[in-house]
This record gives sequence, C-alpha cells and structure tokens, in this order.
Amino acid sequence: TRLALLYGGQSGEHEVSRRSAASILAGLDRDRYQVTEVLIDRDGGWHVDGQATPLPHALRVLRAQDVVFPALHGPYGEDGTVASLLEWLGVPYVGNGVFASAAGMDKGVTKRLLAVEGLRVSPGVTLRPGEDLTPADQRGLDLPVFVKPARAGSSLGVVKVTDWADLPAALRQARAVDPKVLIEQGARGREIDVAVLQHPDGRVQAGPPLEIRVSGTGFFDYDAKYDGGAVFQIPAPLDATTTEVLQDRAIRAFHALDCRGLLRVDFFLPNQGSREPIVNEVNTFPGFTSASQFPQIWQRAGIGFADLLDILIDGALV
Ligand code: DAL
Ligand code: MG
Repeated sequence: TRLALLYGGQSGEHEVSRRSAASILAGLDRDRYQVTEVLIDRDGGWHVDGQATPLPHALRVLRAQDVVFPALHGPYGEDGTVASLLEWLGVPYVGNGVFASAAGMDKGVTKRLLAVEGLRVSPGVTLRPGEDLTPADQRGLDLPVFVKPARAGSSLGVVKVTDWADLPAALRQARAVDPKVLIEQGARGREIDVAVLQHPDGRVQAGPPLEIRVSGTGFFDYDAKYDGGAVFQIPAPLDATTTEVLQDRAIRAFHALDCRGLLRVDFFLPNQGSREPIVNEVNTFPGFTSASQFPQIWQRAGIGFADLLDILIDGALV
C-alpha cells in the first residue's frame, strides 16, 4: 500500500504534529506500507521526502497514493482545509472529513452542536472579533473562567482567569492566537478523556476512560501535555455506570459531529451536583506522540500501536 504521511503544518501545533508523525512513522508496518513523507513547513512550504517542492508536484505525489495519513493538528490541518484538498484530489485519507474537522476545530461551534445533541457543556460566551464581554454575560459566569482561542489546540493561548481584572490581558493573549475567543466557566471535577475509534466495518468503539492528573496548581497546559507534567491513569478508577455514561456520551459526540475514524472527547466529571459529565472539547486528530492519550488508551484496550494504525488506514480504504 502506497501511503503518504502528511505532517507539520502552519499552526502553533507544528512541533506536536512532527512528534505525532515520528511515532506514526516508527509504528507503520514497512512490509505493508510504502511510505512517502510529505511535510508542510511553518511557512506553508511543501517538502516530499525531505526535498522542498512546488505545491503542484506535492499534490501529484499525494494523488498517486493509495491512502494519505494526515497527522496534522490545529488550523490549516485539522480544521478541514487539508481534508478538502484531499477530497479534491480524490485520494482516500485517514480520519475525519471536512465537516467534522471544521466543526471540531471551533470550540464554540462544537459546544453548540453538542448541546443540541443533549450533551452537557460548560456555560460560556463566544466573543467574535471586536466584541467584549457584556456585564450581563459576566454576571452569568463564575470565576475561575478560561479564556480560549476558538480555533487552536494543545491549550495554546488558553489563560485561566481568577480575577476579572485580568480579563483584558487574557483576551489579548487568546486573541493573538485567534481573534474569535471563548470565555468559559471553569468546570470543577476530574479530567477524563475518552477515545473513540471506528473500525473498518463501521463499528464505533469507545475505549477505557483515561484520567489526567496534573501536578501542582496548574491545568493541563502545553507544558504539562508534552513535558511530562501530567500523569495518566488508564482505566480511570470509576464505577461501571460512570464508565458507561462517559463512553455513551463520547460516541454521541462522535455522531453529532459526523465524525469518521477517530475522535478524542475530553470531559470534566463533576464531583458535586449533577454527575453528568461535561464535554470540555473534542479533538478530530488527537495527539499521536509517544506521550499522547489516544494511542495509550488503545494500547491499554489491547490494540497495539501498529494495529491501531492498520484499523485507521483500513477504515479509509473501505
Ligand atoms: N490538540 C492536541 C494534539 C491534542 O489534543 O492531543
Ligand atoms: Mg485538545
């Protein structure tokens, strides 16, 4: 099978994509796949197997493949733009299509779609470019709040605000990443991720919930994600009912966003009041680095990394 691994990209998660691609490259069965590496550099330049190349040539290389494996995170990669390019080329590709990728990249749009599906999300306000938080909106939110770029990943530009006086600075920081931002009430509770995998026969499976424990007083930010500041427990110590509820909600999120192949749904499990899990966000191409949750969850469920890649690739070739 001729396979192009497409990675890098122009988003702030360029380096994360490189790390995801490195583990995918190491995990692919070389007896089965003839691999071409296609890198998009930070400036949007294209490279095929290490050689800088004009875009039309890169597109011809992609079109000549049996399948493309996009391992891109963030805008201009995970947001449907690259899926759209691959649709135009008519080449099968791993993972989510244009709609799910675009909807899942935008935290505000995701929340609205999931709320319509009946899933629980944190109270929050979307501020479009130039908009400010109104006093009425502010009264509806309890501190701490999280200010988030609407379309970014790996917690880039996310600021925790514990005093309203710090809001303007937080907005400036988030808006440097995306002029559209979300102000969300911080959810108290345990942080649990659920991985969803679609098998080539169409069956959609949710993996054992993973609990994230962050050391210190911080949150699961960029450094905690990639520099070992967090510990994962798989499966999370939960009773059977809670596990089933989390898995059910994750699969409903998968369908609500019209996903294909894979999705990681990140929850907060409240320890007070209603126990209904709160969806924090989704990732249509979750991290695949050696430190990332998605591959570790499936490993724990008995699906090793090479098998996981085969399932995703076979699903694209159906
Ligand atoms: N956006 C990163 C890659 C993640 O959620 O895993
Ligand atoms: Mg994320």
